[in-house]
This record gives sequence, structure tokens and C-alpha cells, in this order.
Amino acid sequence: MRKIAVALSKGGVGKTTTAVNLAAGLAQAGERVLLVDVDTQGQVGKSLGVQPQRGLAAVVSGEVSPQEAVVQTREHLWLLAGGRALAGIERLIVRKDFGGEQTLAEALAQFDSDYDFVILDTSPGWDTLTVNALFYADEVLAPVSLEVMTLQSLQDFAQSLKSIQRYHEKLAFRYILPTFMDRRVKKSAEILAQLRAYFPDQLCESIRYNVRLSEAPGYGQTIFEYSPRSTGAADYQQLTTRILDDGHS
Ligand SMILES: Nc1ncnc2c1ncn2[C@@H]1O[C@H](COP(=O)(O)OP(=O)(O)O)[C@@H](O)[C@H]1O
Ligand SMILES: [Mg+2]
Repeated sequence: MRKIAVALSKGGVGKTTTAVNLAAGLAQAGERVLLVDVDTQGQVGKSLGVQPQRGLAAVVSGEVSPQEAVVQTREHLWLLAGGRALAGIERLIVRKDFGGEQTLAEALAQFDSDYDFVILDTSPGWDTLTVNALFYADEVLAPVSLEVMTLQSLQDFAQSLKSIQRYHEKLAFRYILPTFMDRRVKKSAEILAQLRAYFPDQLCESIRYNVRLSEAPGYGQTIFEYSPRSTGAADYQQLTTRILDDGHS
């Protein structure tokens, strides 16, 4: 099983969009995928058109078993929802004397053989829940917006990841995904060139700016359902293929 956290300590870079559509792409390819929303905003459920009663918070607090909180949303695609209840979990973790950063990993350990992929969507900050998600994950995928990204903030993020990797050696900063690519914008090309110079191995093909990607969540649909012929669908299909290929090599 591969556990991939979609993370970057910046909002509006395409984390949720990527987590949802990558998970959908993998599910379409026949992989069994669990999507875990580790954000108090709970956007993942809305993006898939579902509002589960229970989710990750109920599992971590021990109210229900993981199997009871997971809902199947599509063929091969299951969801462990996030949302406001996670704020209480954050307090619970902070109050622990030790081992707080392993809370999520312990709660999710029971899933270890049930899925081919676990994809985690995280919140923008570097908060307790995000750190927990990174202690659980084995791989990190960071979407970087070519509109607003600075190389500095990506390097800061990579540095913060190192502090976790000291305790969790298996965690690999594996993918950098440029998002909001617009060839007409000179700055996009400049940022892309910098990313290629500093992170040649991690760099994935860009996700282009595509208005369909921003419309789909409003209909509770993935990009493959809402607009299968869009550039957004093509780009997320390409990302899916890369991630599947890496698993085979
Ligand atoms: N490639 C894209 N083209 C156009 N709009 C996008 C693209 N990726 C994401 N969006 C939109 O941009 C906004 C921020 O994306 P989101 O995935 O929620 O970012 P994050 O989770 O990092 O805060 C959302 O409204 C989303 O629909
Ligand atoms: Mg988000």
C-alpha cells in the first residue's frame, strides 16, 4: 500500500483539487483508493458530492471503528471525511504527553491491507494535523502554484519536512506538481525553470489552469465526471499514470 500526503504549507495551490482527482484517477485505473481528508474545512466530501455523518475525527477519538466511518463514494474510491470535528482532535493530540504526532498513524494502521493507495488531503498550515498526516504517509506530493509560488517557500517546506524525516525516515519528498500553469504568463515559465533546476527528480508535468477544475467541485463531481475531455482531466490522468508507473519500477 502506498500512502501519499498532498501537502504544502500554503493555501489555494490546488491541494484538495489534486487529492480528489488523483484519487479518482487511481480508482478509475482499478486501484483501491482511500481518500482521507485531514482538513477542518471538509472540502473533499463536498467535492465528491457526499456529506458523511462521521469521518476521521470519529475514528481518532475512538467513537467508531475505521470501517464504520469510511464511506464508499465511487467504484474503488472510499472516503474518510474531514471537517470541523477535526478541530477537537487537534486539541486531543496537543494534550497528549508524548506520541501525539503518531495519533493519526495509530488510528489508520488498521487499514494497512485494505487499500492499494491512501491519499491524504491536508490543511494549508504546518499544524498538528498536518504533522500527523506526514508521520503516517510514506510519500509527499506538493502542488505548487505557478501563479503565486516562490522557490523560497518550497525550500522552507522541504526544510520542515526534513525535521519530520529525522524521526520518520521512510517519508520521501517524492513529487512536486506545478499547478495553475498558464503559458501566456511569463512568471509561470520562470518558476517552472527554477523548479526544474532545483528539484529535477520530483518535478511532474504541470497541471494547466483550467476553469473546469474549479467548477467541478460545485457539482460534487471529479474532473473525469464533470469534463472528461478537458485539459484538467488530461493533466490529472497524466499525473495518475506517472504515479502508477513509479509503483511498478
Ligand atoms: N488547475 C486549476 N485551474 C483552475 N482552477 C483551479 C486549478 N486547481 C485548483 N483550482 C481552483 O483553485 C481553488 C484552490 O484550489 P484548492 O484545490 O482548493 O487549493 P488548496 O486545497 O491548496 O487550498 C479552488 O477553487 C479550485 O477549484
Ligand atoms: Mg484544500
